[in-house]
Amino acid sequence: MTASPEAAAGPGFRVGIDVGGTWIKGALVDLAGGAPAGPVRRLQTPPGGSVEAVADTMDRLVAELEAESPGAADGAVGIAIPSIVQRGVARSAANMDRGWIGLDVQSYLRSRLGRPVCVVNDADAAGMAEAHYGAGAAKQGVVLVLTLGTGIGSALIVDGRLVPNFELGHLEVGGSKAESRASAVVRENEGLDWVEYADRLQQYLSHVEFLFSPDLIIIGGGISACSIEYLPRLSLRTRVVPASLENSAGVVGAALQATAGWT
Ligand code: BGC
Repeated sequence: MTASPEAAAGPGFRVGIDVGGTWIKGALVDLAGGAPAGPVRRLQTPPGGSVEAVADTMDRLVAELEAESPGAADGAVGIAIPSIVQRGVARSAANMDRGWIGLDVQSYLRSRLGRPVCVVNDADAAGMAEAHYGAGAAKQGVVLVLTLGTGIGSALIVDGRLVPNFELGHLEVGGSKAESRASAVVRENEGLDWVEYADRLQQYLSHVEFLFSPDLIIIGGGISACSIEYLPRLSLRTRVVPASLENSAGVVGAALQATAGWT
């Protein structure tokens, strides 16, 4: 259902954008309900992922979303990117041009998009969406959200508060970086069946469990939709559940992350 301006006017609706290696997704997000208020739109990530080309695509996406529900959003935009983000500055760039590294992305996009923006790491955005509205809602203790996609993103949430930039996809397990053995894209590229893939996840998650003793692990990313194929094959002492917002968690979390500070 698309939010009409009459129904949606006010600060309860904000545009969220999630930048991935293949798609840049965006939606008008209902912050009270914690879900996209209309269809999640997506445009292809420009090849090479340069700052300028990605910013142009975001600009088009925001314009499309605003044209769809004029006056509905509060004018600000939450943006999730696959980078370590410290006070608006990107410190890494996964599957994107290296020109992102060191850039004050928040200031750049604020002037490029001509509106207040808040830039956060993509897994942190997805994690906060799950902790706030999804599979981790109202959970106390240590909640770990892992997004399995092109890489492995991670978000650590303790008693509802995010510990930002927790890069557990880069942990070394069995001599290799975890995300180069156990991401969803690696499963596809190597043609692993579910038993083989679950085996790799088991190795990774056992290590993560030993190091951090979480109370709950939430598995997100597109692959969370077929969790029935691999979750029952895992044996851990921690409860492991699929994300409930599935692929829209990044978009919802980006819109939610206003608390990280608008500029
Ligand atoms: C990056 C993370 C990102 C994750 C998912 C990793 O390669 O280092 O910052 O959250 O991919 O996109």
